[in-house]
Amino acid sequence: MECIFFFFFSFNLFLVSQSVRAINAESLIYGVEESLHNNFYQIHDDNSTPYRKSYKTHITRNSNSSSLPLAPPPTTISRLSSHLFTFPETQSTVIPDPSSFFAPNLLLSPLPTNSFFQNFVLKNGDQPEYIHPYLVKSSLSSLSLSYPSLFSNTTLTYQIFTADLTISVLNNPNPNRSHTISAFDDLSVTLDIQPSLRFFLVRGSPFLTCQVLHNVALSISTIHAILDFVPNRSKTKFKINLNNVQTWVLYSSKPISFTHNISTISSDKFRGIIRLAILPNPDYKFESVLDRFRSRYPVSGHAVFTKPFGVKYKFKKKGRGDLLMLANPLHLRLLDNSSVTVLDDFKYKGMDGELVGVVGDSWILETDPVSISWHSIKGVKQESYPQIIDALVQDVEGLNSTALDTSSSYFFGKLVARAARLALIAEEVSYPRVIPKIRKYLTDTIEPWLNGTFGENGFLYDKSWGGIITKQGSTDTFADFGFGVYNDHHYHIGYFLYGIAVLAKIDPIWGKKYRPQAYSLMADFMTVSRGANSNYPRLRCFDLWKLHSWASGLTEFPHGRNQESTSEAVNAYYSAALMGLAYRDTHLIAIGSLLTAMEIQASRTWWHVREEDTLYAADFTKENRVVGIVWANKRESGLWFAPPEWKECRLGIQVLPLLPITEVLFSDVGFTRQLVEWTLPALKREGVDDGWKGFVYALEGVYENQIAFEKMRNLTGYDSGNSLSNLLWWIFSRL
Ligand SMILES: *[C@@H]1O[C@H](CO)[C@@H](O)[C@H](O)[C@H]1NC(C)=O
Ligand SMILES: *[C@@H]1O[C@H](CO)[C@@H](O)[C@H](O)[C@H]1NC(C)=O
Ligand SMILES: *[C@@H]1O[C@H](CO)[C@@H](O)[C@H](O)[C@H]1NC(C)=O
Ligand SMILES: *[C@@H]1O[C@H](CO)[C@@H](O)[C@H](O)[C@H]1NC(C)=O
Ligand SMILES: *[C@@H]1O[C@H](CO)[C@@H](O)[C@H](O)[C@H]1NC(C)=O
Ligand SMILES: *[C@@H]1O[C@H](CO)[C@@H](O)[C@H](O)[C@H]1NC(C)=O
Ligand SMILES: *[C@@H]1O[C@H](CO)[C@@H](O)[C@H](O)[C@H]1NC(C)=O
Ligand SMILES: *[C@@H]1O[C@H](CO)[C@@H](O)[C@H](O)[C@H]1NC(C)=O
Ligand SMILES: *[C@@H]1O[C@H](CO)[C@@H](O)[C@H](O)[C@H]1NC(C)=O
Repeated sequence: MECIFFFFFSFNLFLVSQSVRAINAESLIYGVEESLHNNFYQIHDDNSTPYRKSYKTHITRNSNSSSLPLAPPPTTISRLSSHLFTFPETQSTVIPDPSSFFAPNLLLSPLPTNSFFQNFVLKNGDQPEYIHPYLVKSSLSSLSLSYPSLFSNTTLTYQIFTADLTISVLNNPNPNRSHTISAFDDLSVTLDIQPSLRFFLVRGSPFLTCQVLHNVALSISTIHAILDFVPNRSKTKFKINLNNVQTWVLYSSKPISFTHNISTISSDKFRGIIRLAILPNPDYKFESVLDRFRSRYPVSGHAVFTKPFGVKYKFKKKGRGDLLMLANPLHLRLLDNSSVTVLDDFKYKGMDGELVGVVGDSWILETDPVSISWHSIKGVKQESYPQIIDALVQDVEGLNSTALDTSSSYFFGKLVARAARLALIAEEVSYPRVIPKIRKYLTDTIEPWLNGTFGENGFLYDKSWGGIITKQGSTDTFADFGFGVYNDHHYHIGYFLYGIAVLAKIDPIWGKKYRPQAYSLMADFMTVSRGANSNYPRLRCFDLWKLHSWASGLTEFPHGRNQESTSEAVNAYYSAALMGLAYRDTHLIAIGSLLTAMEIQASRTWWHVREEDTLYAADFTKENRVVGIVWANKRESGLWFAPPEWKECRLGIQVLPLLPITEVLFSDVGFTRQLVEWTLPALKREGVDDGWKGFVYALEGVYENQIAFEKMRNLTGYDSGNSLSNLLWWIFSRL
């Protein structure tokens, strides 16, 4: 079932406000959805290597309909899809070929490039992925399952893959075939080992579920030693004790006969469902929970956007009884517990925190609303206007669109966004005189990227996966920090969107003229729909189970996808929402706001490390106030471009660009202080760049405003996306 954005508002305006129960409302929604499907709106239809107040809109989850912006009538919106813009098509010489793993019918639609199962479709497809609570690896016509152990020291923590159990067809005549991905969704991927085995890999399932499609004998082997293998009397439940202390339980949908030796369990011919789960806890009650839910298996799962700041998970299931899944710590914080039953004592361990049992096939997750505003939340102190204006005049004088020395989509985007900030600061301090020059600069810098006249670089369309790549990136995986292989898309495009949003705000005629190009750029990572009539895959970077983005694109990594800068990810969704404000597009405001809010929540969960937190191992927590790179299956103190000791870089890359939304990202003042105090000693090193110091002082300014201001005044350089005007704007809008 597709989810369509239109319902954010129709849902709230017409249904919730009239106290119609959600469940009824939903079936109504799906009915509407079908009929709208064919001519839907752009962001739905169309739409390791790397580095590298006046307009406030409040959308509140708990508020009633009157405070929500009104949606334009859907007919107006759907008209847009008839003249969709796409950047000129190109054939990349460096992009991998998706056809080796995806089933032919899936190749007809845009394909995911930053997904939780990306390793399964790159190179040989044989690197593991973390399908909580297991690491899963598929190679040579077999699938291996690992309940991983944790490695952790002060700079690194990751889970170790061990092939605890490996499932294959016994005496397979074609033992070396690679798998096929026959289906995927937000929360699931279906992996087939042709012709007989189908694995429903649904995120958070305590059971691995395998459908044996033909009557074949199975082999379940281990790298450990099998101490004993105990069937129950009806031969539908088996316990496997291994010499590494693990006990696994195997359930079968029908009686099945097995023989075993020290390393392999072999079955008679069988057709049906096999489920495997580890018993992480010898408690009898734990096992009885698995027994109770053994017969209901999930086959897929997807997320639906039903209302502002809410996401609903829907799991499709087969078999009998209730569905048991596991929730990660962020889910548990956001979960509406009236929709499901939480089994507090049923827990699996994992690097993302404890995974706790949840019974129910439909979960509602709700986050605190964030307000997307152009300007600082509390405003700038009026007595500080002159100081900011002095800096502003200088910074605007320095703008020269013919003197830019970069053709990198990343650094160019940062310069565009930096200039756009100056325009909004000018608005805040009531100094509109500089705006025309900024407008000209923005026009001169943005247009060539949108109209294909930039020269050395530019945006092009790759049809193989469905997305925008850069000209430089189409022949070089390292160019533009790997943009050509779908690395960092939300970062680069986010900066451009910021510039576009501001330019469309201050020059609506320009905005109207370039709207098709602007929307095409935005849709690259903001598309919500899926299917062949879309130019882009659904939400290129955002992971709807982890509730944050991945940056890494189409590069095989043993520890899965990764993301370094959460603040640049927040910038991307925030900028998309600002674009929604500029274009009065309530759908875009809503999805942009939701993803902004979720990305912030996830940053606080997995990147920000409070002294008192217990999610990571004690040694790691003690030494790190913020994670450098979060991988699907690893946490690192180092950055792509800096060692762990360069704490100012680690702080900075989680702060930049400094924006009104930064207030929300660092609204926990206690943590902000911990982070700054942890960073400050690193500034005593020789050669620390002033650009990075600016972000440290900005955060210090949250709780020591005057001291931070004095330190800022001593800076002689700023990050390329930052400026003195912006630092002063920040410091004078704190209190
Ligand atoms: C709905 O909004 C109105 C106007 O802001 C307010 O008076 C009323 O209390 C709100 N109702 C609820 C249920 O929040
Ligand atoms: C942590 O472990 C990694 C991998 O074994 C090692 O390279 C690194 O030096 C260790 N860090 C410290 C501080 O011991
Ligand atoms: C399968 O691959 C292994 C090693 O990769 C090789 O030794 C073996 O000969 C192959 N078997 C067949 C039937 O191709
Ligand atoms: C074997 O285990 C299954 C699953 O728990 C259960 O349904 C069945 O009744 C058991 N059979 C016997 C004879 O205990
Ligand atoms: C165990 O059985 C499997 C499957 O029949 C066989 O391939 C393997 O060689 C056997 N291992 C030992 C140690 O006997
Ligand atoms: C649901 O959550 C609320 C608020 O956290 C809590 O007070 C309540 O006990 C929970 N209910 C159940 C059934 O867990
Ligand atoms: C802008 O930069 C160009 C190229 O460096 C230079 O020729 C020109 O004089 C500059 N314009 C201003 C107003 O500084
Ligand atoms: C593209 O944008 C540049 C920069 O604003 C402008 O000079 C040029 O005329 C535009 N070209 C086309 C074909 O629109
Ligand atoms: C600013 O620089 C001056 C000269 O180096 C130094 O004396 C002063 O302590 C600095 N101020 C702060 C707040 O670092």
